[in-house]
Amino acid sequence: MLDRLDRIEKDAARALIAAKDEAALQGWKTKFLGRSSELGEIFDGLRELPKEERRAVGKRVNEVKTSLESAHQARLQELHHDSMMQSLREERLDVTLPGRPIPRGRIHPANQTLRQILAIWADMGFQVYRSRDVETDEYNFGLLNMPPHHPARDMWDTFFTNEPGIVLRTHTSPGQIHVMRERAPEPVRVVLPGMCYRYEQITARAEIQFNQVEGLAVGRAITLADLKGTLINFARRFFGQGVRTRFRADHFPFTEPSAEMDIECFVCSGQGCSICKHTGWLEILGCGMVHPTVLANGGYDPEKYSGFAFGMGPERITMLKHRIEDIRHFWANDLRFLEQF
Ligand code: DAH
Repeated sequence: MLDRLDRIEKDAARALIAAKDEAALQGWKTKFLGRSSELGEIFDGLRELPKEERRAVGKRVNEVKTSLESAHQARLQELHHDSMMQSLREERLDVTLPGRPIPRGRIHPANQTLRQILAIWADMGFQVYRSRDVETDEYNFGLLNMPPHHPARDMWDTFFTNEPGIVLRTHTSPGQIHVMRERAPEPVRVVLPGMCYRYEQITARAEIQFNQVEGLAVGRAITLADLKGTLINFARRFFGQGVRTRFRADHFPFTEPSAEMDIECFVCSGQGCSICKHTGWLEILGCGMVHPTVLANGGYDPEKYSGFAFGMGPERITMLKHRIEDIRHFWANDLRFLEQF
């Protein structure tokens, strides 16, 4: 019987080494330590043994059981350790490798300027109003004091559509009429950003589409002083507190009087250079007091109400600010250009 136990112990030890995973180990346990194992059989048979033998075999069978159990425990730990080492080896991660850069998009330079402009006007109490890109001839010209065949219409090379009387807006000014007709007789303070379209030869200085930001203030007793004060305030906020400005008389059919606002050339500080065409000044916007006819077309009695208006081009301002020499860059979608902003 004792020999048998020795053999069991040896067999078990050999089989244990052959158990290469936890499933095999479980099988081993059932086979050598389970209820119907040989060892179990010996336990069950103990009672039938003669007293003397029972003691010796009982002692030995317990020894073998304990040693098998602790061998099982040790093997189990060994297998756990092996599988951990294996996964460490296979799923090895080099945390010192540099990461892959994530390409970062950015806002188009013309839109950056547009947003800055709108933020300043919003801060000064001007609401943003979106008008339409496709306009009637009447809104784009007629209601702005340019009846059919008026020679001033030649200032805007126009995209006409196949639909008679429908054009792509050549400027954001028709939005003035839409706002006034919606708000009259309430006071108005709005800016109208949007795309404009002109049937032009594309050159370094002219594109067939570009943005404008129109501005309109209508109310009682608005004067030219309000126009100048407001626009100078804008220029200081946009170009810097120290910027010098000047107003030059000009002509637009929808304003009277009309002017253009210049800022002192920031490239040469007014000395004269190629950017300012040796004048020392850069033109940044057109403006004027809303023409009485236009006020009336908008639904305001020009005897009681007055207003000022202005129009500026974000692309043009961006070109001046960053000294971009060719307007075509804005639409070329060339990353080498766009990534500079
Ligand atoms: N609409 C003009 C243009 O496209 C710009 C302009 C000038 C707008 C004077 C105005 C203004 O509101 O008062 O050239």
